[in-house]
Amino acid sequence: MQALRVLNLSDDLSGTQLAELPKPERAAGEVLVQVRAASLNFPDLLMTRGKYQLEPELPFTSGLELAGEVVEVGAESAFKVGDKVIGGNKTGAFAEFAAIPERGLSPLPKGMSFEKGAAMGAAYSTGYTGLVELANLKEGQWVLVTGASGGVGLAAIDLAKAMGAKVIAGTGCLSKIDQIQAQANPDKVILTQGQFREEVSQITEGHLCDIVFDPVGGDVFDEATRCVTFSGKLVVVGFTSGRIANIATNIPLIKGFSIVGLRAGEYARRFPERGRAINAAIAKLAEEGCIDPLIDRTLPLWRWHEGFNAMANRELIGKVVFVPGC
Ligand SMILES: NC(=O)c1ccc[n+]([C@@H]2O[C@H](COP(=O)([O-])OP(=O)(O)OC[C@H]3O[C@@H](n4cnc5c(N)ncnc54)[C@H](OP(=O)(O)O)[C@@H]3O)[C@@H](O)[C@H]2O)c1
Repeated sequence: MQALRVLNLSDDLSGTQLAELPKPERAAGEVLVQVRAASLNFPDLLMTRGKYQLEPELPFTSGLELAGEVVEVGAESAFKVGDKVIGGNKTGAFAEFAAIPERGLSPLPKGMSFEKGAAMGAAYSTGYTGLVELANLKEGQWVLVTGASGGVGLAAIDLAKAMGAKVIAGTGCLSKIDQIQAQANPDKVILTQGQFREEVSQITEGHLCDIVFDPVGGDVFDEATRCVTFSGKLVVVGFTSGRIANIATNIPLIKGFSIVGLRAGEYARRFPERGRAINAAIAKLAEEGCIDPLIDRTLPLWRWHEGFNAMANRELIGKVVFVPGC
């Protein structure tokens, strides 16, 4: 089968290539899935460079999330052959077949395409865990989402809007503002360069934001600490800027806000019942038509390089979805 293999770590993808591999063997507790679509996440890019918190042993098959059809199960499995599923296991999704632990899979929401299902999974569970589980999002609250054009950022905007929040989308790219406004429909899109606190204050009529959801870090995080309202929450999601910010602890004390660290996957592993409830809540919102993941482009897997480069060069508004075997 076709699979995208990381053979060596490199900053320019030179250690990653498409290869022919035997179909993976299903171990106990795993389900063999025929991958129909798999979406690219920032950690996939970081893992090709050895710059993610998880460093799989080389060589490994890239890809942390997929949508597909079950082709082989164990006798005790809750799934059956032919079930349509979404999920993943940190690696292995960019291939024609993947053996995934059963707990890493959930049903594809009814009526959803494989492409949309693959695009929804990790981004939406990250958004939901951060906004709802950790920051206790309420209808009518102001939410600032940075890195707004990314998979996780767009998912957070979509979920916050679906739950009746007022959303400010922050992008670092002037050229993306109109498209984010048109496609994601937040209340307002702002440019998160320099000092954007005054604009946030104006938009929220001095209230500032009840929740700031920040996948970017660095300078954006620094300025975002000035955008949280008293008793608000600043959710630390990631560091796409490449810099992990430092913060003096007197800032959250004086301003009376909380900083919350998000690890969506780990949260679901430690609290499996909450993980299942989060997946069910997202599936319900999708089935009711309240949320809809944005896909920037769908590519055959052999054009993986184009997708990875577009993410590295910050050209995307939405997800990249790969279709293996074509
Ligand atoms: N905490 C968790 O549980 C969890 C789970 C999943 C992912 N994550 C993290 O969330 C982050 C986003 O992942 P993703 O898959 O959504 O990535 P993505 O689709 O590439 O989006 C990231 C966004 O960050 C902004 N960005 C990219 N490079 C930047 C740079 N050099 N400087 C400033 N901003 C930059 C861009 O938005 P604009 O151009 O619009 O500014 C980009 O669209 C990653 O750090 C990932 O590791 C965390």
